[in-house]
Amino acid sequence: MKIAIIGTGQVAAALGRRWANKGHIVTFASREPGAERVLALLEGAGPNASAARVADAAARSSVIVLAVPFTAARERVEMAGDLSGKIVIDCTNPIAPGLRPMFDAGTSGAEQIAARVPRARFVKAFNTTGAENMADPVYDGQPSTMFVCGDDAMAKGAATQLAEELGFEVVDAGGLTAARHLENLALLWIHLANVVGYGRDISFRLLRR
Ligand SMILES: NC(=O)c1ccc[n+]([C@@H]2O[C@H](COP(=O)([O-])OP(=O)(O)OC[C@H]3O[C@@H](n4cnc5c(N)ncnc54)[C@H](OP(=O)(O)O)[C@@H]3O)[C@@H](O)[C@H]2O)c1
Repeated sequence: MKIAIIGTGQVAAALGRRWANKGHIVTFASREPGAERVLALLEGAGPNASAARVADAAARSSVIVLAVPFTAARERVEMAGDLSGKIVIDCTNPIAPGLRPMFDAGTSGAEQIAARVPRARFVKAFNTTGAENMADPVYDGQPSTMFVCGDDAMAKGAATQLAEELGFEVVDAGGLTAARHLENLALLWIHLANVVGYGRDISFRLLRR
């Protein structure tokens, strides 16, 4: 796949490096594509990775991954240009100070962003676990769960394939309104890791009988 990852931080690095090393063509979209830190990121990602400004990265890709702070995400997708028919994977979490959800239970960050790009094929994924688990989701030989939700089957299929390639077991959590639950699950993961004190080497796994 040709993948534009908007962002060059922890999530972008974990996902982009691994996908590029698996043969996908990855373009990191940065506000400063020539910066030292972006060049360092590219070094670890190998020959399939490059960096560009957001509009160029999106134009050359069919899958757009949002890996920026939620507060920047709506603006960044609009800067990406015409996303008609493209797959948009939303990894962001709308977190208010005090580890609270930014929205009430009647909407989600994902639905807010999706409304800005109505012609894109939108899916929520890669938001419910830490970036370290995206680099390595396997614990004692058992895969971590990656929850995926959305209303577009093609987008969900692409997110599922990309998550499985990283070693996740994917659980289809339903339509895009389930992003409300996925975003709360992310809050629980951060609470367990940082507030309760389990640390970031923790991961969710859904068991089914
Ligand atoms: N860290 C995690 O473990 C984790 C896990 C799941 C989900 N998430 C979510 O994924 C998203 C990215 O998280 P992250 O930890 O990778 O973030 P991060 O390390 O802080 O990186 C965010 C990146 O976004 C870009 N960016 C664009 N506009 C920005 C702005 N106005 N302010 C700041 N950065 C801006 C920056 O790249 P340029 O400067 O190159 O443009 C920056 O490298 C967030 O929504 C987060 O809630 C994080």
